[in-house]
This record gives sequence, C-alpha cells and structure tokens, in this order.
Amino acid sequence: TPYSISALILAYLCGSIPTAVWIGMAFYGVDVREYGSGNAGATNTFRVLGKKAGIPVMLLDILKGFTATNLAFFIGVTTTGGVNSIPYTNYELALGIAAVMGHLFPVFAGFRGGKGIATLFGMVLAIHLHAALLCVMVFILVLLVFRYVSLGSIMAGFTYLLGVTFVFPSNRSVVIYGMCMCLLILVTHQKNIERLLKGTESKVNLFKKKTA
Ligand code: G3P
Repeated sequence: TPYSISALILAYLCGSIPTAVWIGMAFYGVDVREYGSGNAGATNTFRVLGKKAGIPVMLLDILKGFTATNLAFFIGVTTTGGVNSIPYTNYELALGIAAVMGHLFPVFAGFRGGKGIATLFGMVLAIHLHAALLCVMVFILVLLVFRYVSLGSIMAGFTYLLGVTFVFPSNRSVVIYGMCMCLLILVTHQKNIERLLKGTESKVNLFKKKTA
C-alpha cells in the first residue's frame, strides 16, 4: 500500500540522519569522517571527540533503529510494536533494514555513513529484547577482554544469530534476518577485520580519557 511504501521511505530517511557528522560539525566543527577510522559512527565519535559527543551519537543511532522498526506501529498500521514485539512481522524487519541502509548510505551526508551497529541494535531491541540483552553482554565482555569495539560488534552480531536460532523461540524470517545481519556486519567491518588480523586495530582505553 502507499502507506507502507511511505513508511519504508520514512524509515530510510530516519536512518539517514547522520548524527555523528552533524553533532561533530555542530559542536566541534569537526567531520569525524576525516579522523580516526573515518567512520561516521558512535565508536569513531568517541575516539575523535570523546564521550560527551560519543554517548549522544550512540543513543540517537540506537533510537533511529528502534523508531524506524516501530514506525508501522507508531503510525497505527500494525498492532505489534514497542520493545520485544513478538511476534514480529516481516514488515517491521523491512523498516529496520531500511533505517540501517539509511545509516550506511545517508542521503543527508553524501551517502558516506557508518557501519550500522548502533542502528542494528536499536532494531534488535525492538524485535527481540532478550536477544538484544544477550548481545550487549557479549559486546561488553569482548570489549573488556580484548578492547576492540569492532570485534565486540562482530561477536554481538553472531550472538544474535545463535540466540535467535538456538536459545530463543523465533520464526524463520528472524533467523534469516540474523544471517543477513551477520553478513552485513562482516562486510561493513572488512577494514576492521584486516586490521584485527594484522594486529593494528585501535584499542579503546576504557579507563583513561583519550585524545585524538
Ligand atoms: O560500530 C562500529 C564499530 O564496530 C567499529 O567502528 O570506528 O572502530 O571502525 P570503528
């Protein structure tokens, strides 16, 4: 229907809001894509501008995925929605994916966006709370042990897939979505994986303030 198509476009536009670029430009006069990993995401904002910029970017990017996935619910087209909206519909998944695509290829920032982890997390939060919590736990654990955000993101993605396949009751489309999500994370993290293998990936310093 025209409604569902407009909602998909709206979800893409929502994901397209380049929070890392806009917050960096507005408050620091810095395009984070010119520094650090060159990524327009929360991690690189933390790296380049610190937590005062990084935390809002992270929260807003999560919110983008969460809001977009729930768009059909918010505008009253579907009745399932909110957090943990089991049973999720394929349409919700499509809305979330549209937002992730917006984050990766933002129309408002020359189509050079981020890697989609925070936005994907917002989406997972909307469709499967328990899987989302499991992902966060694995992410934090990997971060504490290895101090690579990228490795945490990759492991969290696979945790989601394993979670919805073996641990939590899920329908087939959610499992297929999990597979696509892992594939997407591997593709967006290609450079990170190369650096991880070479041992040159930047580590986060969890306890000390970092500059540049
Ligand atoms: O969320 C993206 C993260 O996994 C890696 O970001 O800037 O280290 O490439 P970055």
